[in-house]
Amino acid sequence: MASNFRQNLLSLLCFWTLIPLFLKQSMAVDTLKAGQSINDTQFIVSATQKFELGFFTEPKSSNFKYLGIWYKEIPDVVVWVANRDKPIINSSATLNINGDGNLVLVNQTGEAFWFSNSSRSVKNAIAQLLDTGNFVIRDSTSESENYVWQSFDYPFDTLLPGMKLGWDLKTGLNRKLISRRSQMDLSSGKLSYGINTDGLPQLMVREGNKTMFRGWPWFGDGFRRSRSQEANFVYNTSLEISFSYSNDPDNEPSRVVLDSSGFVVHYVWSKRDENWHSSYTFEGSGCNSYELCGNFGLCSSVLVASCGCLDGFERKPNQNISDGCVRKDPETCRKGEGFRKISNVKWPDSSGEFVKIKLGTQNCEKECLNNCSCLAYGALKIPGIGASCVNWFGKLIDIRFNRDAGTGEDLFVRVAASELESSNKKSGVAVVVAMVIISILIFLALISWFIIRRVRRSARGILDKGAVMIEALIEENELEMPIGLIEGATDHFSISNKIGEGGFGPVYKVSHQKMK
Ligand SMILES: *[C@@H]1O[C@H](CO)[C@@H](O)[C@H](O)[C@H]1NC(C)=O
Ligand SMILES: *[C@@H]1O[C@H](CO)[C@@H](O)[C@H](O)[C@H]1NC(C)=O
Ligand SMILES: *[C@@H]1O[C@H](CO)[C@@H](O)[C@H](O)[C@H]1NC(C)=O
Ligand SMILES: *[C@@H]1O[C@H](CO)[C@@H](O)[C@H](O)[C@H]1NC(C)=O
Ligand SMILES: *[C@@H]1O[C@H](CO)[C@@H](O)[C@H](O)[C@H]1NC(C)=O
Ligand SMILES: *[C@@H]1O[C@H](CO)[C@@H](O)[C@H](O)[C@H]1NC(C)=O
Ligand SMILES: *[C@@H]1O[C@H](CO)[C@@H](O)[C@H](O)[C@H]1NC(C)=O
Ligand SMILES: *[C@@H]1O[C@H](CO)[C@@H](O)[C@H](O)[C@H]1NC(C)=O
Repeated sequence: MASNFRQNLLSLLCFWTLIPLFLKQSMAVDTLKAGQSINDTQFIVSATQKFELGFFTEPKSSNFKYLGIWYKEIPDVVVWVANRDKPIINSSATLNINGDGNLVLVNQTGEAFWFSNSSRSVKNAIAQLLDTGNFVIRDSTSESENYVWQSFDYPFDTLLPGMKLGWDLKTGLNRKLISRRSQMDLSSGKLSYGINTDGLPQLMVREGNKTMFRGWPWFGDGFRRSRSQEANFVYNTSLEISFSYSNDPDNEPSRVVLDSSGFVVHYVWSKRDENWHSSYTFEGSGCNSYELCGNFGLCSSVLVASCGCLDGFERKPNQNISDGCVRKDPETCRKGEGFRKISNVKWPDSSGEFVKIKLGTQNCEKECLNNCSCLAYGALKIPGIGASCVNWFGKLIDIRFNRDAGTGEDLFVRVAASELESSNKKSGVAVVVAMVIISILIFLALISWFIIRRVRRSARGILDKGAVMIEALIEENELEMPIGLIEGATDHFSISNKIGEGGFGPVYKVSHQKMK
């Protein structure tokens, strides 16, 4: 009896003493102190186990080793990679934090493959993986967010909530997403997604120097018409010009990815069906396609994108649509010319090569009229500065007309005196033409809708990845999708437009070919 009791007591004691041991082994730490390191079988896990940092191979069966961050509970989604362009091959790998507080990634023979390039060093540096997915180097004696270095400043192809795209004007750092070379190849591809701050800030997807897609220009405190609560635009010319987004209220993991084919996709994790849902995709098709309508062209979209010309301009016969339009009457320099107002548009490309911004000016019309090479103007208010003018020169490119009132800006385009005179006469005709076109479009829309519904139902199984993403998008839209953040980030599409944008992407392609 007594020995039995002793045995029980012993095993109980054993059990209790074993628990801390057990915990120690399974619970990884979220920090790396100076002099410490992890090898390729060890991990750092953020405080509430959201993210994990360590080594992985890609492709999985290869011996190409990368240091990366991924979701701890969700398999196969890498959100950050340190050495994407310089994998460690055929060797073990170690991540150290050295004496001056820099992270260094070395192979077996001590060759450095990557290092954190912090501009200053601190005495008691520690590296910590935060629950936001940010891997930071900070002074261990201070909890402040004044990080010496952070992985959020060196993005991979993924934007996480709280992470910023764009310029830190103090350090001169410009953060952008860089696509993978291909789905299976982590190395830097040609596509980037970031903010062009030269001129008015605009989010852009670019392939090298070539603009694929341009977001809505913003100024002051952000998009004036953005209805999105989650999107955060900062425009402070002494501090930063940036875009970021905060997590959805239900706090499920979410991420925005620039994929290797140029899609910008916002994924939200659904606990319910353990899957990623894409809540908005952007691809450079339809009216989003930067060069679709050419110079002085105007793109509008009712299921299919169509290119028109700005008032006072026309398309030359036998010209490609992307060659744009030309002036009907070139007499626009001190010959009684004036401006035609076009409402509800996405302003033309407002990069520095195309615009001059005149701060603190009231009379934008006079400003533009005074310079014969000024093609158009727009007015805006900048907080702290007030009424200001934007003047366009050289080209008016990538203008989009929005059907919904109040979803665009006013643009004033310079036209010859003859155009101003004829405007009243023509408007009657224009209304009739517009009504005929609209009824045809509605008819086509209904037909396409039925056809597409049928095709969609029958094609569900065989759609490619892109199409499946779009499918998910439509389904979410039908379920009353919240106004997504990327809508704010990219363009102010109405919900109906959004269905048009994403859902009928494949249709655009066909119609483009027809149009050409
Ligand atoms: C990694 O480090 C742990 C703890 O120091 C050690 O047990 C393990 O053998 C190491 N693994 C390799 C591959 O070096
Ligand atoms: C890695 O190892 C494989 C097979 O052992 C070999 O074919 C390859 O050349 C090695 N690569 C490098 C970069 O050493
Ligand atoms: C470490 O990297 C260097 C440079 O790439 C290479 O010469 C060396 O062979 C590598 N060491 C091992 C053990 O693979
Ligand atoms: C480190 O920073 C310096 C100056 O900011 C830069 O010239 C250098 O290319 C950077 N090196 C790496 C590996 O990022
Ligand atoms: C991009 O522009 C720069 C400067 O205008 C030029 O030097 C470079 O060759 C261009 N690159 C491509 C890929 O067009
Ligand atoms: C820009 O940032 C600086 C420094 O934080 C601040 O003093 C200033 O008020 C900001 N300007 C605007 C327009 O928000
Ligand atoms: C239109 O563009 C296509 C391809 O870009 C080209 O082959 C064709 O010659 C162009 N047509 C005209 C009239 O310029
Ligand atoms: C008109 O504007 C252009 C572009 O900003 C500038 O180069 C030119 O000097 C201006 N002309 C006059 C007369 O102000």
